Amino acid sequence: MTFTRRQVLTSAAALAMLPRRALAAMPELVAAETRQQIAPDGYPDTAIWSYGGGTPGPEIRVLQGARVARRLVNRLPQPTAVHWHGIRIDNAMDGVPGLTQEAVTEGASFDYDFTVPDAGTYWYHSHNRSMEQVARGLYGALIVDEPQAPDVDRDIVLMLDDWRLDPETAAIDGNFDNGHDLSHAGRFGNLMTVNGRFDPAFEVKQHERLRLRLVNAANARVFEIGLDGLEGWIVALDGMPLDAPLPVGGAFALAPAQRADLFVDVTAESGAAASLLSIERDGGYGLCRFDVSGQGARARRNAPAPLPANPLPEIGDLAAAPLHEMRLQGGAMRWLESARLGETEMSGQELAQLGKFWALNGRADRPDTPFLDAARGSLHRIAFVNETNFDHGMHLHGHHFRLIGADGAPGPWRDTVLVPPRETRQIALVADNPGRWLLHCHMLGHAMSGMTSWFRVA
Ligand code: C2O
Ligand code: CU
Repeated sequence: MTFTRRQVLTSAAALAMLPRRALAAMPELVAAETRQQIAPDGYPDTAIWSYGGGTPGPEIRVLQGARVARRLVNRLPQPTAVHWHGIRIDNAMDGVPGLTQEAVTEGASFDYDFTVPDAGTYWYHSHNRSMEQVARGLYGALIVDEPQAPDVDRDIVLMLDDWRLDPETAAIDGNFDNGHDLSHAGRFGNLMTVNGRFDPAFEVKQHERLRLRLVNAANARVFEIGLDGLEGWIVALDGMPLDAPLPVGGAFALAPAQRADLFVDVTAESGAAASLLSIERDGGYGLCRFDVSGQGARARRNAPAPLPANPLPEIGDLAAAPLHEMRLQGGAMRWLESARLGETEMSGQELAQLGKFWALNGRADRPDTPFLDAARGSLHRIAFVNETNFDHGMHLHGHHFRLIGADGAPGPWRDTVLVPPRETRQIALVADNPGRWLLHCHMLGHAMSGMTSWFRVA
């Protein structure tokens, strides 16, 4: 049978009209405006930007080594892109506009397709104008399960955020270019949430062992995390298992973008409530509650065994590794005298007028030449020297690194390191993932106003 010309034309037109997803079965991740109850009940709901209709976006959970494929569809009023934070990913899938892809314009889409080499707790978030887009809700959890499930009764993802809402209308404060925020600690909010809700509650039983996967999705706030009615251990940081689980004593810091996996045993009695606390100088308050009813099947257990290690590179001879210094400069009370922006050396005042308040080694923008040009597989040390009066959470893309302890020995694997004011933190990096990788402060306002650089592995 042959087609008439008319039939051919009709069927070609019909095919062209089919939505693209009918041709390729890639699940969509639609970024769009929506509304959600963020403030406590009784307040109005809030217009947010979300993946898949809510914040956090859909939890993506796969087995270690699996493939993740999502078509980002942009229904936002701005270009966007998705970064898969902490995944040692193929460079082309890293989601950094201007470095690994073009921003996805309004109405357009982009196919992300990659495999996940490491088990652990990761997250995805917008990487275009992230200072605004993450603050409006564009993030979600990416959980990679160990092939053998660890011995816990529940696995609970807790994404922490810090919203700045109008106290009456609950609308998001839309002033993202506020020079005061940018030049100080960043955009702090006035409402702390867990999983996009104020003070949510989870049902648990006494003596149950929970795995709590904490993700700090806030723009700028360093949470000091404490436990009440729970006794536990940190078993992984930034997705990577610790060699030995670390008992949670007092509070521990969780900087923006950092993750901590805890195993906690519910010690509070049936009828009582346990909670995850945010500790502050003048006390603490609950971030979320665990309502205890009944008793789990097993009484108290032994301390947990370490999680199985991920296939990370060996750190070789540290002493032989070149040491690169990255000086963190600027901000309030240590104002930049000058720094380079593009080809031009500018005064601090000129830079401030352009919304730049910070610099990395004298550069207030992402330079054309990388901070570090590394041969594939080579070992490097980087010293982050914080000359400012503020905390910075320095993040490297595409790699994890080991934090070097005060004793000079390699410590935990991380992808984001908190560098307190006037202190230095040294890391060891095996540059084994080829490509162009961003390196920036994860206080998102700082990244936007000067603290962004990059490195290359070839
Ligand atoms: Cu989570 Cu470049 O960031
Ligand atoms: Cu910073």
